[in-house]
Amino acid sequence: MRFLSFFALLSTAAAAVVNYPRASFYPESEEFSLTVGGKKIDTINFANNYDYAHLAMDAGSPVEFRLKAKTQKSITSYILSPRGQNFGAKISGNELVFSASKPQYFIILINKVKEMVILVDPIEKDVPKDKGDGIFNVLDYKADKSGKAITKGIQDAADAAAKKPGSIVYVPAGSYLMGNLLLKSFTSLYLAPGAALRFTGNRNDYKTLFTKAGLFDGTWWIQTEPASDGVKIYGRGTIDGNGKYTRSQKYMASLVVPVGTKNFKYDGVLVRDGSFWAVTPIQAKDVEFTNLKILNRHDVTQDDGIDVVESQRVTVKRSIAIANDDSYSCKTWEPNLDTTKPYPFKPQVVKDIVFDDCMSWTECYSFKIGQGVVEDQSNVLFKNGVVYNAGVGMGVHHLYGGKTASNITFDTIDVENLHGNSGGIATWLALHIKDNGNNRGVGPIKDVTVKNIRARVKGTREGLIQGWSEKYKVSGVTFSNVYMGDSKKPATTLKEMNMVNTTFSEGIKFANTN
Ligand SMILES: *[C@@H]1O[C@H](CO)[C@@H](O)[C@H](O)[C@H]1NC(C)=O
Ligand SMILES: *[C@@H]1O[C@H](CO)[C@@H](O)[C@H](O)[C@H]1NC(C)=O
Repeated sequence: MRFLSFFALLSTAAAAVVNYPRASFYPESEEFSLTVGGKKIDTINFANNYDYAHLAMDAGSPVEFRLKAKTQKSITSYILSPRGQNFGAKISGNELVFSASKPQYFIILINKVKEMVILVDPIEKDVPKDKGDGIFNVLDYKADKSGKAITKGIQDAADAAAKKPGSIVYVPAGSYLMGNLLLKSFTSLYLAPGAALRFTGNRNDYKTLFTKAGLFDGTWWIQTEPASDGVKIYGRGTIDGNGKYTRSQKYMASLVVPVGTKNFKYDGVLVRDGSFWAVTPIQAKDVEFTNLKILNRHDVTQDDGIDVVESQRVTVKRSIAIANDDSYSCKTWEPNLDTTKPYPFKPQVVKDIVFDDCMSWTECYSFKIGQGVVEDQSNVLFKNGVVYNAGVGMGVHHLYGGKTASNITFDTIDVENLHGNSGGIATWLALHIKDNGNNRGVGPIKDVTVKNIRARVKGTREGLIQGWSEKYKVSGVTFSNVYMGDSKKPATTLKEMNMVNTTFSEGIKFANTN
């Protein structure tokens, strides 16, 4: 009784904060330390240009974050993103102090040292037990959690679990080097906080499935069995692609591949260091990603965050994707050609896709359809997005294929910054068609809605609404409530939005409601 009331008192007094421990693979950040609600949070030294920390908290009363720039005497400049919200930030010596009342993802730059990414998730619900009926703990299958030798134990536990539909493969905290993992119907993979699965990067440890023209051979690291149903991956552990090393070995991998599956769910596991498109639902139906964090490097190419490929009814909600290549995109491609060789089914359309509450940082596009439109792509909605920094904010790049991209919506997106250029394109919005000249066909873009946008910068080059010919146009583009720079009034002309190139386009309308 006494204990109960003591804890009840605590939980009303302060929002709970949970630190997710750093796996033994990872060093601590040299530049930053972090406390949240007075609790010390583990930091992780990661890429050349950013570090990160992962924790959870309740929504409710404000919680104080103190981010210390350890190598700095004082703070002379900072960026705290998302910029559209007020976190009451203050400088105290070499600490940035701010508060948040709900779990959020933050990207913070202090004195241009290097970015710090703070990943705050909701407190975990439905945490499974580590043993018991229907729980297949990988340690009971001799998985090596020291991270020293490649382990078969996780696949062995998954195979045993698959014989008893509804079972959970439980991976406790620890460091695991793992070969390919195949998940079968009605099996869940749970990664506990502090559990990290790492790709070795050595091709002999994997089953090569494809060759990417101009690049390397590759594999699908963790995949569902084709024609499976009800597979789930969840928890607060880490799936680590070891991408930079893998590329140095002239190899690559997609990390999480729900392929030819239905009713797939993914919640909360952090994905990092991809060596190719990191997360790729392929020919999948009824797929839900929540709390999806993808931290790829900016010095590894073609490492897209999540690419929804030939799939239907896919939702990505509450997410951050950092990559050199596109953060969030939808694609359809030619069958039986390099990376599509292992696809289980005939080519499929992309339809009914929602990206909601997604934050991006990329050298390429943040939110994109393309480049392949080899099958139709329709009803794709990007909403409540934040572009921390990108080559291109959002767009449709119809470069390959003779089919149609239609009914594409960009709604409530804050373009905070743009930099560089992605293949010569450097703008907040690019809708463009090209024929890449390899007899892959060319096709139209129809019915694009661009609304409730803040483009704080427009980009260093002209914006594009550019078709290919009289036959293949960009048609039916509606703008409403697009705010350029810090303007308080929505744009009423194409020129104001820097949409300079509009050849072979038609039906461009303004429908401002503000
Ligand atoms: C267009 O897509 C939206 C989702 O973004 C959907 O609600 C709507 O029904 C689609 N419109 C048509 C005509 O299919
Ligand atoms: C856009 O138009 C300008 C002016 O005509 C031209 O110089 C530029 O090449 C065009 N950009 C693209 C990507 O077509």
